[in-house]
Amino acid sequence: MPTVGVIGGGQLARMMLPAAISMGLELKVFAEADGSPAHNAVTQVGDYNDLAQIKKFAESVDVITFDHEHVPIDLLEALVQQGVSVQPGPHCLRFAQNKLLMRMRLQELGLPMPAWKAVVNSEQVRAFISEHGPEVVVKTPIGGYDGKGVRMVSDAAEVEDWLADLDKYGGQLLCEQKVSFARELSQLVARNSAGDIVTWNTVQTVQAGGVCAEVIAPAPLPVNSKLADEIARTISEQLGVTGVMAVELFETKTGDLLVNELAMRPHNSGHFTIEGAVTSQFEQHLRAVLGLPLGDTSMRAKHAVMLNLLGVDESNNLVENFEAAMSYGPALKIHSYQKQPRKGRKMGHITALGDDYVQLLERCREAAAKLYDSKSA
Ligand SMILES: Nc1ncnc2c1ncn2[C@@H]1O[C@H](COP(=O)(O)OP(=O)(O)OP(=O)(O)O)[C@@H](O)[C@H]1O
Ligand SMILES: [Mg+2]
Repeated sequence: MPTVGVIGGGQLARMMLPAAISMGLELKVFAEADGSPAHNAVTQVGDYNDLAQIKKFAESVDVITFDHEHVPIDLLEALVQQGVSVQPGPHCLRFAQNKLLMRMRLQELGLPMPAWKAVVNSEQVRAFISEHGPEVVVKTPIGGYDGKGVRMVSDAAEVEDWLADLDKYGGQLLCEQKVSFARELSQLVARNSAGDIVTWNTVQTVQAGGVCAEVIAPAPLPVNSKLADEIARTISEQLGVTGVMAVELFETKTGDLLVNELAMRPHNSGHFTIEGAVTSQFEQHLRAVLGLPLGDTSMRAKHAVMLNLLGVDESNNLVENFEAAMSYGPALKIHSYQKQPRKGRKMGHITALGDDYVQLLERCREAAAKLYDSKSA
């Protein structure tokens, strides 16, 4: 069986491992540091900006894929030129890596988006604010994650530091109209190299402080899941994506959908698929990057909800109370990523399946409260 190489040793690489094991695949991980969440599969530790190191790793695997989107595109292009199979390839990954390139490409495809503009100085930010304000969203096109690189601003002075350091962010900033969305949705899709495409149910995501906090699958009705599905299929096909992709969407008060951003890898909004769908996003990603037939994406229950466990401080690793949390909700599945605790860090998640998503969310929150409370350990 082939060997899949994953660049990045985070929780996404970690969660690919059980899927690889059950399919009899070898999984090797290139991690940034020792003791990463994917440590069980790490075969090389190093710098993903270094072509020589990545090339050495590529020689030990049949296909390269990713846990994150930060590997420089020119490095990936060099690998492809040398005959390495990189999935998804740099021709599409660049649109997930750079939010400005993504906006330009999706505009060409005629997909619905918030009003946006590329800016390079404070006059242009001011002009955008006077057209779309009082408040607008400014983003660094590259390098952002979990809300870092996203600011709600009403004055150009609030992004002066970014404007002074434009080279670091791709030479320009992205201004967006601030959408007063009714809720946020995510559409997960997978495409293999043969061009087969499957989608899971459209889900609702709830962010707190720019970080995903909860996911409800499927998104409570009414939702235009047919449109979400079409948008995700179009992007996946037109950009030639291989593997799993998440399309983050805003749902407006009138039920219209606008594309927020893309992730070309398994995504936090798809963690529910481990227990909640016939084929998890991690298994599907491995199938897709290897060009294998794709699996059934049906739900295993009427609803699945997922709640992220976010670090509270540097001492509570959120596993001290595992026993209490597990015995409290034996039907809940608690996942830990074995990370060093830090405030706001994604430390793990809880998934529950059933009929009533409101009740499921309550139970997950109660179990999470037990893990957060280090005193009762
Ligand atoms: N144009 C917008 N209008 C209103 N809210 C927005 C807009 N863009 C972003 N946001 C809010 O900020 C959050 C983070 O933005 P975005 O998804 O672009 O950043 P990110 O840091 O790449 O995200 P992630 O957490 O997915 O890594 C969004 O989920 C949404 O809640
Ligand atoms: Mg996002």
